[in-house]
Amino acid sequence: MRIPKQLLQCKPVDALTAIENSLKQTLSAKDLTLLGVGAIIGAGIFVLTGIAAAKYAGPAITLSFVLAGVACALAALCYSELASMMPVSGSAYSYAYATLGELMAWIIGWDLVLEYALASSTVAIGWAGYLNSFLQALGWQLPPYLSTAYLADPAAGFVNLPAVVIVLLLTGLLIVGIRQSAVFNFFMVLIKLAVILGFIVAGSGHIQTANWADFTPFGFGGVLTGAGVIFFAYIGFDAVSTAAQEAVDPQRDVPFGIIVSLALCTVLYIVVAAVLTGLVPYTELNVAAPIALAADRIGMSWLSPIIKIGAIAGLTSVMLVLLMGQSRIFFAMANDRLLPPLFSKVHPRFQTPHLSTLLVGVAVALLAGFMPIEKLGELVSIGTLFAFVLVCSGVMVLRVSQPELHRHFRCPGSPYVPASGILVCLSLMAGLPLDTWIRLLVWLLVGFAIYFSYGIKHSKLREP
Ligand code: ALA
Repeated sequence: MRIPKQLLQCKPVDALTAIENSLKQTLSAKDLTLLGVGAIIGAGIFVLTGIAAAKYAGPAITLSFVLAGVACALAALCYSELASMMPVSGSAYSYAYATLGELMAWIIGWDLVLEYALASSTVAIGWAGYLNSFLQALGWQLPPYLSTAYLADPAAGFVNLPAVVIVLLLTGLLIVGIRQSAVFNFFMVLIKLAVILGFIVAGSGHIQTANWADFTPFGFGGVLTGAGVIFFAYIGFDAVSTAAQEAVDPQRDVPFGIIVSLALCTVLYIVVAAVLTGLVPYTELNVAAPIALAADRIGMSWLSPIIKIGAIAGLTSVMLVLLMGQSRIFFAMANDRLLPPLFSKVHPRFQTPHLSTLLVGVAVALLAGFMPIEKLGELVSIGTLFAFVLVCSGVMVLRVSQPELHRHFRCPGSPYVPASGILVCLSLMAGLPLDTWIRLLVWLLVGFAIYFSYGIKHSKLREP
């Protein structure tokens, strides 16, 4: 079978960088870094750490954080090089367009829906859980038909209302403006950082080193599985690249935002994991709010509601940035006519892709309101890892195909760093269960069906 040339056609990097930009360019290096931290710290550290320590890695969950952090650092360096060459909002989708052709770009754009939209729904459900537990502590409780998704419990549940409401509120904010969204993100990030630092300071004086005595109860295999699970905690640093068209100096500041936000969160994660497993025996950490549990254990029960507020703020900013990222990726795909033009419409006054944001917001709200949470997380991780593999490959391809292009940021140690990124991400993918792989394949097949029935017929490449 011959593959049509058009599907393999790459868009030159110069054509990507020269596209007309109708989005408002207001974000500074600081805003971009805060967007990164906003997207990274959330359900992963506040929820999954305890489960991963109890079930897979024990106190060596600290090492799992180091491992997953290394995988992300390799990918982050590659993202930074491509972002410094192509300051466009499509992120990995646009990078694939320039290096691997339209079909691969479509595949990765479609795959990114798993990372951005699906992660937003997952985090919205986690957010609603934290809110409910906070309200319960105050003596209020929503009836089950308003707090549980129908598909999670058809007998008692109907809609997860808090999850729907928060997604729609954030969608409204994103439509009104990128600057307003960045300011809101700033306050959310401030709250979650203060809570995490407070926990580290309060907890470090109470560590019982005996809790670390059996450091690797599940061996190295457990550390690896743990890394696959808590990989979710790092997802989001690449969302910085989706804000490239709204940055004042994207070629310089996007790489800065990606690398600095990831480095900061990696250090925080490793320290939090060490403190947490030092305060509570790992066997007791299989709970939904492990950090709040640790605060209770050291007799600081007053800290526990504050930690819940930190988690609610943290999860809010994650949703905000991921929703933003998803609408920008669809914006870029619609600019290339692979999606209907309404996704690339920009609001005349707000200068945001309002329709793309609205459609993404409604879809995410419906998913969060009616779907159960299980299994969504692993699908998010496999989708993200797949995107990382293609981004690392993109760096290697462009170094060979267009070595003369100016790179404001160069990934050090190429080709070894991108090649190691590919290997590490593939091995983390290999550790995920078979049914997650099957779901990924089904998702990609749906994507193919859409591409061959819509995208290929409307593609910009068909123009003379
Ligand atoms: N990294 C984000 C979180 O942990 C997705 O919530």
